[in-house]
Amino acid sequence: MQTHQKTAFKMPYAGIDPDDGQAVLYGERGDFSMIFQIRNPVLQYGADPDAYSAYHHLLLNMIKILGEGYIIQKQDVFSRQKYQPKPATEFLQQKYNEHFEGREYTSISTYLILTRQVKRGAFYVYDKKVLNDFHQHRSKIYDLLNGSGLSPHLLDETEINRYITAILGMEFSSGHAALDNILSGDQQLGIGTRAVRSISLINTDIIDLPEKLGTYTEKHDGKNLREFPVDNLSFLHQVPGYQCIVYNQVIEIPGQQLTLNKLELKRKRHSGVPDPANLICVEDIDQLLVDVARENQLLVNAHYNIIVCAEVSKINKAANFIEAALFQQGIIPSRNAYNQLELFRSALPGNAVELKKYDWFLTTSDAALCFFFKESMLTDEDSDFLIRFTDRQGIPVGIDPADLPMRTNRINNRSKFVLGGSGSGKSFFMCALLEQYMLYNMDVVIVDVGHSYSGLCAYFGGKYYTYTEKNPITMNPFAISESEYNIEKKDFLKTLIGLLLKGAEGTISQVEDTVFSNVISAYYSEYFMPESEKKIDNLSFDSFYHYSVEKIKEIKDHEKISFDLDEYRYVLKKFCRGGEYGSLLNETSDASVFTERFIVYEIDSIKENKVLFPIVTLIIMDVVLQKMRHRTGQRKALILEEAWKAIASPLMAGYILYLYKTMRKFWGEPIVVTQELGDILGNAVIKDSILNNSDTICLLDQSKFKENYDDIAKLLSLTPIEQKKIFTINQLDNKEYRGKFKEVYIRRGSSGEVYGVEVSLFQYLTYTTEKPEKNAVETYMRAYGSYQTGLEAFVSDLERSGLKLETFVRKVNLEGIFPAGSIEYFKPDFI
Ligand SMILES: Nc1ncnc2c1ncn2[C@@H]1O[C@H](COP(=O)(O)OP(=O)(O)OP(=O)(O)O)[C@@H](O)[C@H]1O
Ligand SMILES: [Mg+2]
Repeated sequence: MQTHQKTAFKMPYAGIDPDDGQAVLYGERGDFSMIFQIRNPVLQYGADPDAYSAYHHLLLNMIKILGEGYIIQKQDVFSRQKYQPKPATEFLQQKYNEHFEGREYTSISTYLILTRQVKRGAFYVYDKKVLNDFHQHRSKIYDLLNGSGLSPHLLDETEINRYITAILGMEFSSGHAALDNILSGDQQLGIGTRAVRSISLINTDIIDLPEKLGTYTEKHDGKNLREFPVDNLSFLHQVPGYQCIVYNQVIEIPGQQLTLNKLELKRKRHSGVPDPANLICVEDIDQLLVDVARENQLLVNAHYNIIVCAEVSKINKAANFIEAALFQQGIIPSRNAYNQLELFRSALPGNAVELKKYDWFLTTSDAALCFFFKESMLTDEDSDFLIRFTDRQGIPVGIDPADLPMRTNRINNRSKFVLGGSGSGKSFFMCALLEQYMLYNMDVVIVDVGHSYSGLCAYFGGKYYTYTEKNPITMNPFAISESEYNIEKKDFLKTLIGLLLKGAEGTISQVEDTVFSNVISAYYSEYFMPESEKKIDNLSFDSFYHYSVEKIKEIKDHEKISFDLDEYRYVLKKFCRGGEYGSLLNETSDASVFTERFIVYEIDSIKENKVLFPIVTLIIMDVVLQKMRHRTGQRKALILEEAWKAIASPLMAGYILYLYKTMRKFWGEPIVVTQELGDILGNAVIKDSILNNSDTICLLDQSKFKENYDDIAKLLSLTPIEQKKIFTINQLDNKEYRGKFKEVYIRRGSSGEVYGVEVSLFQYLTYTTEKPEKNAVETYMRAYGSYQTGLEAFVSDLERSGLKLETFVRKVNLEGIFPAGSIEYFKPDFI
């Protein structure tokens, strides 16, 4: 039987003491450390090479500030976690949570430990000056990190203890680590049922490093990722089968003069012996000395260790993967496995002082920092208005599309522009956004063509107005109270009359404009004047028409202007009662639009009607504006799917500008959704009024537009970096273990990120625009009386049937709802 010698694992610390109000961790030799938790500022898949270099320079600066006698230890902790959602009160949100609950993901946390060394071998002497010095450095470093957006947080005593315990137990997921015995082996350590293996990057016997290394690596995957900047150690994101990885990066700043002298001496010694290996060594030293002299760099001792922890059965796979990945980069990791316990101990925070001479290698600070890990992953934004999409690995992450970026001046308005080819998932994405908007106090009005929002509207029990010939959407934009009559209303009516007379593509002359203006003023003053003999007994298009024909005749006679009254009378007549479009502008709209929270105007049936389409869209806009003034306490969103085309004409450009401005002032956001490239390129109205006023741009899969991309990039002002991110949409190898999803790029202000739109089956069925799927869900809804119960029954029958969604849908559409009592075969593999 094999026996193990038991030794107590002696902790290398003297204790933690508060000094200057901060927790200082003392090593047993008297050296002392402070620990910051930070956030690496470079976002994974951020596509920006400068971000890597900027972080590199920041770290370089830090080394310069600290100077001789310091050790900088940076630890990036990768740990596999299971997603735990916060409970939701709302049905679909609860389903969303259930969809993601327990999904495995990686979280990265980063710690920076500053250690002040003391002279080796000397007795520990308390030196107030050194400590004061240390605090000054600490506060300088804090400012540096804070100023660069790394959100530094100095750990207090409890947090330090917790962190040390977590490292000792290699346990970062549960929050309360239980310490097991550490079993020291030749190859690895054993902690309970898990193995911990240190892979030291550099074998100091033979330094096997790539010739050249930058602050990042360019990745090419042969498809869509071309010259895509990633971290030098980006493979750490993909290690298979591990539980946690601590990447321990250490830099010691030795006395410079002394180190230089030693180096010179070594050079002399080597150059005396004419052996090729020695000559290489001399060359290396020369290069190092040149860097130090010319580039004013510091000489540092560096040490890197990847400590990977996995179940014993999986450790080999994980470690082999890391070694192979390092090898691919030209790094041959150290084969010295014998000092596993030593290596592990030296990774304890502040304990890099225990590293032996052979663990270090000498280089310049610039070169040493190339091996520092620089990336972080998306995390929830710090806001209470969060909308959840997923990150690239498929974990929900909350972003604030409105308030936070406004507060930080990232954007100046909340308006959005959504672009993607047909079927790329625009409406689906909008549904995901709007469903969550409804969780906040948001009023939503959608002008749609093609019934993409009927499911969501039914779920929320909103108002769904469909334009049909029998039952047209009616409004009476002329009926207003005296207090509502103002310059903007007058402008709107002027635009409307211009549109009725000339059509969307027409233009209005100065004379016509003045005439309309005068007539509208006269019409309302006549109506609101109490003592006058009222000629107008009600406000409507009809009464306006009759009044205006008289009035224009009067103006013409009086002013001797040319105005085609006959044309006016003839063209506008069809909007009078009894005319072809007689009900459109003469009947008051449903008053509930002012209080309803979710409204859809579905105008698919008139989208080809050149006369009606723009008029109906325009008057809907007017109702929305009125509603906005009524509902001051609510946020508002107005979604225009394709309908924007109806109003994007020069005649209405002024009105669109006014609409955008007014919405912004009333806590509202217009969102224009489109697939029509031809319509947006070269359309001055789109550019000047819609795009210029939309600080947020959401792009679905753009591969269909690839040929025209230069034009689109110019129109949307997309920098090459943003384009790189955009071309990763739906292209990453991140589909495994996830539901069906599509990705969207959201740019707030000048930079954006790609997110996943992945939802539960329940939400999928609510959002889908596939006609058969919609029909089948509607069949259930009718049978069960309410959307939610219909949906629940649908999903439970689908599961019971064991059929694929597609087959189940076909069956329901043919035979009606799935008969009760059918046998369960197996779970369907939906998505
Ligand atoms: N994020 C997603 N997850 C799962 N399925 C999706 C997703 N996005 C889109 N789909 C699928 O693709 C279909 C088409 O999506 P959607 O209707 O949103 O496209 P669209 O861009 O609005 O197209 P159009 O321009 O024709 O209106 C959806 O019905 C759904 O089945
Ligand atoms: Mg759509």
